[in-house]
Amino acid sequence: MKHVDIDLKAQPFELLFPQDRIEQRIRDLGRRISADYAGKNLVILGVLKGGFIFMADLIRSISVPLVVEFISANSYGSTTDPGQLIVSGGPIRSLRDRHVLLVEGVVDTGRTARSVMTALKRLEPSSVEIVTLLNKTSRREGDLTVKYYGFDVGDDFVIGYGLDHNQLYRNLPFIGKVIMKQKG
Ligand code: IMP
Ligand code: MG
Repeated sequence: MKHVDIDLKAQPFELLFPQDRIEQRIRDLGRRISADYAGKNLVILGVLKGGFIFMADLIRSISVPLVVEFISANSYGSTTDPGQLIVSGGPIRSLRDRHVLLVEGVVDTGRTARSVMTALKRLEPSSVEIVTLLNKTSRREGDLTVKYYGFDVGDDFVIGYGLDHNQLYRNLPFIGKVIMKQKG
């Protein structure tokens, strides 16, 4: 697909993962997930907003039947520091005896994923696993099993492919690392 040019002058960044590398990695994840979920009733549960572009690409790389649901989790205000977590919306369809795959754009401290997992377990699914495009393990708090991930990233703030900085740059077709402006 051809993309438009996006004005990035206001936001200095470094390219981390180009589009073709992301697409290749998503195809690999899709193949693994298709094999692991063969014969199981799969529910792909997207965590908004950061997971939406990854999820759209991922489901088109999965060959087993699946249904799609969304949940909204907001842990960031207008800064890059973790704020209060608000989980809202959620699956209308019953998850009982279904295999749920939670889709996130990035798992950072793991607070979001853990809260959503806790809420989901009350709905008695057969299984719950996590797939995230980016895995920031250096900032993880406590144990969290992230079964599938696209790329490991360090303690950098990244944008693009669904991920935002102050709600902008979700539409970048690649992943970039934000170069923070020096304070003072
Ligand atoms: P966690 O609860 O700390 O794992 O944070 C997860 C949420 O924080 C993600 O769903 C994102 O919305 C946001 N987040 C964490 N790191 C980044 C980043 O590098 N870029 C953009 N959003 C991020
Ligand atoms: Mg955000």
